[in-house]
Amino acid sequence: STGSNLSITVVGASGDLAKKKIFPALFALFYEDWLPENFIVFGYARTKMTDEELRNMISQTLTCRIDKRANCADKMDQFLKRCFYHSGLYNSEDHFLDLDSKLKEKEGGRVSNRLFYLSIPPNIFVDVVRCASLKASSNNGWTRVIVEKPFGRDSESSSELTRSLKQYLTEDQIFRIDHYLGKELVENLSVLRFSNLVFEPLWSRDYIRNVQVIFSEDFGTEGRGGYFDNYGIIRDIMQNHLVQILALFAMEPPVSLDAEDIRNEKVKVLRSMKPILLEDVVVGQYKGHSKGGRSHPAYIDDPTVPKGSLTPTFAAAALFIGNARWDGVPFLMKAGKALHTKRAEIRVQFRHVPGNLYKRNFGTDLDKATNELVLRVQPDEAIYLKINNKVPGLGMRLDRSDLNLLYSSRYPREIPDAYERLLLDAIEGERRLFIRSDELDAAWALFTPLLKEIENKNIAPELYPYGSRGPVGAHYLAARHNVRWGDLGGDD
Ligand code: BG6
Repeated sequence: STGSNLSITVVGASGDLAKKKIFPALFALFYEDWLPENFIVFGYARTKMTDEELRNMISQTLTCRIDKRANCADKMDQFLKRCFYHSGLYNSEDHFLDLDSKLKEKEGGRVSNRLFYLSIPPNIFVDVVRCASLKASSNNGWTRVIVEKPFGRDSESSSELTRSLKQYLTEDQIFRIDHYLGKELVENLSVLRFSNLVFEPLWSRDYIRNVQVIFSEDFGTEGRGGYFDNYGIIRDIMQNHLVQILALFAMEPPVSLDAEDIRNEKVKVLRSMKPILLEDVVVGQYKGHSKGGRSHPAYIDDPTVPKGSLTPTFAAAALFIGNARWDGVPFLMKAGKALHTKRAEIRVQFRHVPGNLYKRNFGTDLDKATNELVLRVQPDEAIYLKINNKVPGLGMRLDRSDLNLLYSSRYPREIPDAYERLLLDAIEGERRLFIRSDELDAAWALFTPLLKEIENKNIAPELYPYGSRGPVGAHYLAARHNVRWGDLGGDD
């Protein structure tokens, strides 16, 4: 509203995430008229910089969507004029008090709402929260803080972090980001399930044989080895991004679309998951590989990775949900770096058709005839359903075909980045896509015993070549549960 001012402070403004994601997302929101009339953006970091230097830095990373090139330069100027910089230490209450006076000056006596985005390493989360909440909170509007993983590295350190944050903030002020929840197709998962008659009735052990949640990247930890080695792929991707997708996929219908109703159901299904057994997990680590004249380094070649590190860069796991809907259905997860492709998707494999009249048309491999629903989260967002279809003509030949909703042809507009959605939600106080603390606890409770076991037993990861399809162990794991990975079948 015109009576209030929104101040967004990006703490850690010179960092990678801020430059690559946060400033561009704020600009996109501004461009699309989603930000209130009065808003300002402050960068905060230790580096000494002038407002002009910050603007220069940011301007390198702002882009306009293809369909919006018209007055792009103008809009950028208007946006940059609202960006300011304050240099200070992360643990200095005085420096945050200085920030507070600068904010007040720009807010010009209007009601002030303040959003802090902590784009900083986790070891300084609490310092910043203390200083910001004690010295730079709004005294007449709301104050909210966005934090992003890592939230600790196991149940204990995560609850410790929660306890420390809650000395200065209420749960309502904390917005824990999992940026996968801001992705278009992940949001659409609930729409697909709950607004179409044809899916929800099939959403159970009666019709679904298995569910696969797959994440792969075609690059290694290049440059991030120092951070990554302390976490590994299970903490980096599975415990948050993939488990969040799984919870949305498998939860019971919520009472309403209210944040608390949805998060209640997510917590419930997370708590219904059975402990993950070590024998249901495969860990891998990429080794060097030369391909097409280019040679790629091994994970342990990264100078920031300790010699002999056993940290997994790949993991596959079979999870089970011990409730009436999902009893016995394997949920397979797979996440890896330095694989042959970059992709994130959800695959739902349905059961065989009982007494199939067309059995003989499929030969001996009935698996080839099962329906599969695929939600491709990225790249090339799509939802497709594999069906069996008659090849047109006088004979009776069946063919695997796709009912295909390809976003780029159905919705040619560019899809907003996940950070745009999430920043906007935080500004509007919409908590649906943020992680509540009991959700975080439940996700850690699921993985902590497994992580400890892997570390205590020094489980050696299975090595796989950079750019390959990952360790073969993942196939054996799937096969033991009667599953074939859908992404490796050749006709995906
Ligand atoms: C981050 C992980 O949370 O997600 C990174 O820390 C990973 O290791 C990234 O690369 C992937 O996000 P996206 O949106 O590029 O798929």
